[in-house]
Amino acid sequence: MNIKKLVPLGLIVVLTLNANAQKSLPITINADKVTAQVKPTMWGVFFEDINLGADGGLYAELIKNRSFEFTAPLMGWTVKGKKVTEGDVLVLNRQQMQATNPRYLRVNVKSATDKADVTLTNEGFRGIGIKKGLRYDFSMMYRQPETGIKMHVVLQDDKGSTVGETVLVPTQTGAEWQKQSVSFTANRTIQKGKFQIWFEGKGVIDLDMISLFPGDTWKKRPAGLRADMVQMLADMKPGFVRFPGGCIVEGRDLATRYQWKKTIGPIEDRELTINRWNTEFKHRQTSDYFQTFGLGFFEYFQMAEDIGAEALPILNCGMACQFNTAEVVPLEELGPYVQDALDLVEFANGDVTTTWGKKRAEMGHPAPFNLKMMGVGNENWGPQYLERLAIFTKALKDKYPQIKLINSSGTDPNGARFDLLNSAHRKANADLIDEHYYRAPEWFFNNATRYDSYDKNGPKIFAGEYAAQSKEIASPINQNNWKTAIAEAAFMTGLERNADVVNMASYAPLFAHTDGWQWTPDMIWVDNQQVYGTPNYYVQKMYSLYKGTNVVDIKLGNKIIAGQDSLYASAVVDHKTNELIIKIVNASNKPQMHDVQVRSSKKLPVTGIMTSISSDLAAVNSFEKSTNVIPKDERVSIKGKSIPLTLKPYSFNIVRLSLR
Ligand code: AHR
Repeated sequence: MNIKKLVPLGLIVVLTLNANAQKSLPITINADKVTAQVKPTMWGVFFEDINLGADGGLYAELIKNRSFEFTAPLMGWTVKGKKVTEGDVLVLNRQQMQATNPRYLRVNVKSATDKADVTLTNEGFRGIGIKKGLRYDFSMMYRQPETGIKMHVVLQDDKGSTVGETVLVPTQTGAEWQKQSVSFTANRTIQKGKFQIWFEGKGVIDLDMISLFPGDTWKKRPAGLRADMVQMLADMKPGFVRFPGGCIVEGRDLATRYQWKKTIGPIEDRELTINRWNTEFKHRQTSDYFQTFGLGFFEYFQMAEDIGAEALPILNCGMACQFNTAEVVPLEELGPYVQDALDLVEFANGDVTTTWGKKRAEMGHPAPFNLKMMGVGNENWGPQYLERLAIFTKALKDKYPQIKLINSSGTDPNGARFDLLNSAHRKANADLIDEHYYRAPEWFFNNATRYDSYDKNGPKIFAGEYAAQSKEIASPINQNNWKTAIAEAAFMTGLERNADVVNMASYAPLFAHTDGWQWTPDMIWVDNQQVYGTPNYYVQKMYSLYKGTNVVDIKLGNKIIAGQDSLYASAVVDHKTNELIIKIVNASNKPQMHDVQVRSSKKLPVTGIMTSISSDLAAVNSFEKSTNVIPKDERVSIKGKSIPLTLKPYSFNIVRLSLR
């Protein structure tokens, strides 16, 4: 093989299949030949409150239905006791006074002395995860005409034995609502515990916002997020966080659409809404799934900032989910929806003297969040979407021309709906088009070249939701197995190779609770105590950590590598770390030996690092075996201009070497 003849200049990596040496064409990488820039936003995360993603998941509140606003006001609660008689515990509704949080509980305690007299028990979301030695912060809103009641606040195991407890004596009296808090420590670890208040003394007390948070929230923020879940995202160093979804943006009807203004400000004023996934799937009904918005838009912006990611909010465009009611707002009534979008830019970026910037400052963040982009509509389609999008676009571009707008191309990556939107967005010179693909692994392998033929001067692509489905879309028996993950890894070489077209990408959905999911597959699984990454998580993480800054040319013979010999490959250099980063998928069931020869204008080291995942295709991770399919590092030697590589069967490999 005469390498000089093939590519005379620059860094050249030649990979030869030793097993099949005569037949194989050379693989060459020209690291001096930059073909595209990789945007810092390239690999991000898609968050939606699905599968108990927020309430019962990322939002660390442990009390379910803390403000009695679920459709059934006492869902999650049990009222019991020897001294509880008819009318002693009432749900009151002050709709006229406080429409956003109308219900509260009135408890009439008639001389209680024992823990069996008057009790309120909360079951948590799927039980309460309790950790030995951890502090728990209890708080409540209350009012009482006079003192006389003592409250025993208790964490229990599933049999009712105490795991931690304290006493709170409400001290304030009068008609005004007060907040009082107390903390205590748990003495055992329990997977599915519960929470109880038992009353002592005598009197009448009104209760609302009965709340319990663990002391180990993300950044130790009071009433914050689950640290282990945020950490999984932080570890990926994602370029952006898309929120709050997903179909949840649309709502099943317009009344239950996501309205960001209702998710900011004092927690007790954030109006609860039913979660659209509550009733979506007959086979996975989740009757206790609501949105309290304790994780609201401020918290989303803050989390994105914490983990160094750009915030990407997606807003309702005046259309409810077209799979459900398909309600649309008349065009002449779209004004408030558009105003919400304009106000969101002010909330995120406005000076503290502006109406919405002031609200952000009051919540503790006077500095702007520096919002740069926004999605108009989620998976909406049809001419009705285009009409509404045009109105949003005009208003947003007139006032905020620097904000990039993301346009929907519907639910599928092809077909009449896609074609209509795709051509309309191209004609309108859209900033970014959001494409979604929930498809079989084979589709991902076959579409690794999807973007090679896209117009490089046209709108950019946001691969906003994708996941290989082991069975079929949203099937309850989908698995996050290695076959799905390696298919995504292969496909992603095509996203990376075309980083001048594809500027952003995110797997979806992100989180699922093992006892409360509606949709599979999902990238990260949690229970009340633990979290684990699927093989798909590790593929996403590897791409994101080693995204590089510039795409460089990689070829098999004179062709891009997208399926020949079951290989898929892309390569980048990182101008910040001075590395060459080669991503290679071996999707065959045989090892492939490659002799890699390198020439460069820069000097090569004597060793590099190869991070690889390889497994059988059916392999999955689980709580018990969370490290079954994970990346492993090994050192590879570079002999002059040669790197001998062994690519294991069904493997995804990233080779990194320093360029000096
Ligand atoms: O990711 C799950 C759902 O799939 C999203 O809510 C929706 O946008 C898509 O159909």
